[in-house]
Amino acid sequence: MVGLPATGKTLISQKVCRYLQWLGITTKVFNVGNYRRKLHGAHQLHDFFNPANPDGERSRREAAVEALEDMIYWFKKEQGVVALYDATNSTRTRREMLMAECKKHDIQVMFIESVCEDEALVLHNIMSVKLKSPDYKDMDPEQAVEDFKARIVHYKEAYESITEENLTYIKLINVGSQVIINHIQGYLQSRIVYYLMNLHIAPRSIFFSRHGESLYNVMGKLGGDSDLSARGKQYAKSLPLLIATHLGNSEQLTVWTSTMKRTIATAEHLTYPKLAWKALDELDAGVCDGMTYEEIEEQYPEDFANRDEDKFNYRYRGGESYRDVVLRLEPVIMELERQRNILIIGHQAILRCIYAYFMNHSHEKLPYIKIPLHTVIQLTPSAYTCEEKRFKVDIEAVDTHRPKPKAGAPKSATDANPETPVDAASDAVKQPAADGEKDCGATITTTTMSTTTFRDSAFHR
Ligand code: ATP
Ligand code: F6P
Repeated sequence: MVGLPATGKTLISQKVCRYLQWLGITTKVFNVGNYRRKLHGAHQLHDFFNPANPDGERSRREAAVEALEDMIYWFKKEQGVVALYDATNSTRTRREMLMAECKKHDIQVMFIESVCEDEALVLHNIMSVKLKSPDYKDMDPEQAVEDFKARIVHYKEAYESITEENLTYIKLINVGSQVIINHIQGYLQSRIVYYLMNLHIAPRSIFFSRHGESLYNVMGKLGGDSDLSARGKQYAKSLPLLIATHLGNSEQLTVWTSTMKRTIATAEHLTYPKLAWKALDELDAGVCDGMTYEEIEEQYPEDFANRDEDKFNYRYRGGESYRDVVLRLEPVIMELERQRNILIIGHQAILRCIYAYFMNHSHEKLPYIKIPLHTVIQLTPSAYTCEEKRFKVDIEAVDTHRPKPKAGAPKSATDANPETPVDAASDAVKQPAADGEKDCGATITTTTMSTTTFRDSAFHR
């Protein structure tokens, strides 16, 4: 990363990391601010960052070198593929040092520079993120803002924006309103560039709902293209009020469905613009499509056991694995990043994959995430976190979640003593916080609402 303080470098690093991890690429963020705090304490005032202060300069270089050494170790010993080296790296000298070290170890370098000329946005970033930093713990907020501004002034004195023609870089100016790229090579770099070009930081919510209960759900059958049950149709009718209640009055929304009858029927009463994506169709169960878990266990016992062993990678005969689904959903994620408010009416496996992207869940846990029927999930990204709310509609539906059998327990489709299902909140991939001030966790609120409650709240608006 390259850029002045409070220009979104950490947020960008974390997002790229989450995206690549979700795609299955081993990625890690090395945040030099954390090393600085560990080596020299958290309470350093602005003079520490003054380029004319030789002690500060030496200490900061020490932190940068230690982070770099750990990063190189990670590449060599832990089979790392992409590292985000999150620091200001704002001088040519620092970048030359990085390039030289990486070259020694045959590590390709691509710089991502964030330039933010919008003073108001920088101030907003300071207020919303930096004041929570351990750097300013127990300090008067006004004093902290002034100190952080003075820190930026010091960095500006020495800052050299990237212009080196021989370097591989992408420069994002004013949150991507202008993008400059130089010497981008290969698949991975192009994916990252494309991803970065789609990012925005405007406030928005993403709503998820599975289709209303289907006739196949009631019979315990997988896949198919069946209609909604009577209760599923009732759920579809309850959706417009529920969404309107939680969207906010002046907000716009687009509804995405799959191309299957049950998601399209669930969206039927919604009056927002709609788009049906083939890529959102449910995981293809191949030869098992239309069967119940019990039938699969009976007819394909080995497959059934293999799926329990490694559900993310198991591919149905003639069908798909969760890994396949993640790859086919990549364009959906890219488009989701570009968009504002979106409601996705989808399927169990599909929504697990998309939810895992936003909430940073591991591939191992992903196939067990609970996405119950007749429940709307609202995710609202904010700085480094994603707030989650769940609205459970009071219309009964079958439970289609099959938990992972306990190790050693009989792996039966009708296992009566299942392992406690994945709790979405506690399952996030535990990465060391990229910066001491950054909490990558999620806040989850669950609300059970009866249809009557929606009606009441709508009347009161
Ligand atoms: P520092 O150098 O102090 O670690 P930083 O550059 O890493 O700062 P962040 O901590 O990532 O900055 O700042 C987070 C804030 O930046 C968030 O409020 C986020 O919305 C905002 N932000 C994200 N991307 C950009 C961008 N491209 N330009 C400006 N602000 C951004
Ligand atoms: O049971 C509903 C359903 O959407 C099926 O169509 C699909 O095969 C299944 O869920 C996916 O869930 P799991 O991967 O847990 O079997």
